[in-house]
Amino acid sequence: MPALKRDSVPYTLGFAAIVCLVCAIPIASAAVLLRPMQARNQRVDRLSKVLGVAGLLKPSEKLGPAEIEARFDEFVVPRAVELRTGAFSDAVDPRTFDQRKAAREPSTSFEPPSNEARVFRVPNHAVVFEVKREGKVAALILPIQGYGLWSTMYGYLALEADARTVAGITFYEHGETPGLGGEIENPRWQAQWKGRLALDEAGDVKLKVIKGVAGPPADDPYRVDGLSGATITARGVSHTIDFWLGDAAFGPFLARYRQGGS
Ligand SMILES: Cc1cc2nc3c(=O)[nH]c(=O)nc-3n(C[C@H](O)[C@H](O)[C@H](O)COP(=O)(O)O)c2cc1C
Repeated sequence: MPALKRDSVPYTLGFAAIVCLVCAIPIASAAVLLRPMQARNQRVDRLSKVLGVAGLLKPSEKLGPAEIEARFDEFVVPRAVELRTGAFSDAVDPRTFDQRKAAREPSTSFEPPSNEARVFRVPNHAVVFEVKREGKVAALILPIQGYGLWSTMYGYLALEADARTVAGITFYEHGETPGLGGEIENPRWQAQWKGRLALDEAGDVKLKVIKGVAGPPADDPYRVDGLSGATITARGVSHTIDFWLGDAAFGPFLARYRQGGS
């Protein structure tokens, strides 16, 4: 067979195909081999957010993945809740349950009433985290999500054991603009949530992010400072709280909890 000329079309195409193959193999292998590591890093990031919102991990503390997992296992107990009834449930394993995936499947989720947080499906089960101190529940951490200006914002809201007082809030994933809506990640903004009341005595959701500046928690328990230049994101945070603490989501669970356990 005659050798292909270097400037012929088959030679160029063959050469390009070999280069593609040589590059694709290491890239595809790296993607497959690194997947478990990425999954672990993502898991550890979530655990560190849960620890952070519970006040069990300071922003300045630099812990490795194993230390974060150890601290989580020492203080935090994940538990599955059946949202419609508000009862704890053994139907799913809270350590492995993927709530976001469950919310996408019609068989494991339901359609809530139309809402301003733009939550279109709610999983039948959700994972909450109980923070234990000296054998008692010191805080409850609830997963929350809602729409801001550009994106769905995913986070956690921590309530004290009375299931009314806010212990903290954090957001771990969103697509809001850095410096504007992205300020929902700012620890100084998050810090002023602590000590405010999410619900009134009747169990109705009252907490709102206002436009402007709120007073201290003791005088102004139901209002949180707005985000300057990002009122739409701030409103989305209010809608998120309203939805997840309300009847279509954690409302029944919180009501049971306040009456002495779920
Ligand atoms: C490029 C760009 C990005 C913006 N990003 C956000 C955002 O992430 N969140 C938000 O609420 N507003 C954002 N805004 C501003 C909104 O359009 C709107 O003006 C603002 O939410 C109103 O808030 P204010 O009344 O506090 O000014 C952005 C505006 C521009 C031009």
